[in-house]
Amino acid sequence: MSSVTSHNEDLWIFGYGSILWKVDFPYIEQQTADITGWSRRFWQGSVDHRGVTGNPGRVVTLVESANQVCRGIAYRLGAEALESTLAHLDFRERGGYERLQIELSLNNGKSVPGITYFADEHNRNYLGDADIDVIAKQVATASGPSGRNSEYVYELETALEVIDAQDPHVTDIANHLRLLER
Ligand code: SIN
Repeated sequence: MSSVTSHNEDLWIFGYGSILWKVDFPYIEQQTADITGWSRRFWQGSVDHRGVTGNPGRVVTLVESANQVCRGIAYRLGAEALESTLAHLDFRERGGYERLQIELSLNNGKSVPGITYFADEHNRNYLGDADIDVIAKQVATASGPSGRNSEYVYELETALEVIDAQDPHVTDIANHLRLLER
């Protein structure tokens, strides 16, 4: 992993979690994009957005998975607002995520370098794998400054539908959650 510190050119940023629906930064264009070799997983704990210390929520991170494709949205950030946008996102994602340089396959057929926010297994809030029903139960009881953890799951499910992304892990958790909330 390498961190990205300064730029004087446009930069593509890849969102696969809350950056799909909470787009609180300026950008020039957006495109559906795929990254290869990664899967989206609810393996990251959240004590600053969708949970609190002592009752963390679960949010998504990326997990290396050979031959798997993770679909998300790539946003092209303009050079002028780049430093302030990255500073904003660094703060928003401070609960364990770091910038990761990654190759993006854009919907227009082009491959471009970009960055994404990635929470690896060494960060203090990492939770890792668990059975789907355990994850769903944890999500059902968690809430934090950004709202209920269940809302994050449903927002993600809807955002993935909009970009025609099939993600069985997210669908399974959302379905379990609906059963729990009936
Ligand atoms: C992302 O959205 O790409 C990063 C993870 C998150 O904040 O949910």
